[in-house]
This record gives sequence, structure tokens and C-alpha cells, in this order.
Amino acid sequence: MLRGICYLSSATRPFDEAALEGLLSESRRNNAHSGVSGVLLYADGDFLQYLEGPSAAVDETMLRIRGSRRHRGLRVLLDEPIEQRVFADWWMGLARPTRSHFLALSSASWKRAAAAARQPGSMPPGLVLLEEFWSGQAGSTAR
Ligand SMILES: Cc1cc2nc3c(=O)[nH]c(=O)nc-3n(C[C@H](O)[C@H](O)[C@H](O)COP(=O)(O)O)c2cc1C
Repeated sequence: MLRGICYLSSATRPFDEAALEGLLSESRRNNAHSGVSGVLLYADGDFLQYLEGPSAAVDETMLRIRGSRRHRGLRVLLDEPIEQRVFADWWMGLARPTRSHFLALSSASWKRAAAAARQPGSMPPGLVLLEEFWSGQAGSTAR
């Protein structure tokens, strides 16, 4: 079973470019190994990350993420079974949205309406917005 998780957190210390690249390369190594794809957004000290993959692999990854001292205040916005991956090509993409984009994504609804939840393949509004944001800026960030 595939599962998708989205969470928000805040960096313990601000990440500069080198720190972000370092985090990303270790994450990609792990994720490629365990079959977890997704995207990481960073804006002014705040993270929003969406992860998807086999449920057990997502659990394992979340344990690593929850254990990290590089961020705090982790808050899960979405955690549910998914039918297909949204970011299949990305072992972890990175984007640096503007503050207003970040706020729009973090305050979007990540719960599907009950009727929508029964429809196969439907996505919560927050995930639709994240996919739109990503496809609007992808190509500017290396895989
Ligand atoms: C914002 C953030 C995102 C992370 N994303 C991933 C990830 O996608 N996959 C993964 O295996 N680990 C991920 N990690 C965990 C790190 O790769 C690493 O295991 C962890 O940060 C080590 O703990 P430390 O930061 O206290 O040294 C993430 C950590 C942070 C802070």
C-alpha cells in the first residue's frame, strides 16, 4: 500500500544553501534506497515536506525525520493511503517558495471533503496546490 504524508516544521537554525544541499543529498540517498519520493520546501526557516511511498518505508523515513535535531515543531497535515505517486520522478525535490506561496500551501486544506475522499484518485486541495506550484517551477531545481 502506498501512503502520502505532508508535514510542517521549523529549522532549529536557519539553513543556508550548503546546509540544504547536504540535507537533500542524504535524504535522496535514503529515499532512493527505500522507494520514497516527494518534495521539500524551505522558506525563511520553515519546512513543508511531502513524502510518498510504501507505508513501511514512509514510517521508517518519518522516524528518521522526527529524530532530527535540525528542526522542531513537526506538525502532520496529511497522512493517508494514496493510489499513485504525485512526485514519482523525485527522490526528494527541493524548492524555495516565496513566503506568500509557502503560506498558501501551509494553510491550504489537506483534508479531502468526505464525498471527494470516496472518489478514487482524488487529491486534497493542499496536494493539488503543491503539485501546481511544483509543475510551475520545476526545471529550475536539479533532481
Ligand atoms: C527537514 C528535514 C527533511 C528530511 N527529509 C528526509 C528524507 O526525505 N529522507 C530521509 O531519509 N531523511 C530525511 N531527513 C532526516 C535526515 O536525512 C537525517 O537522517 C537526520 O536529519 C539526522 O538527524 P540530525 O539532523 O539530528 O543529524 C530529513 C531531516 C530534516 C530536518
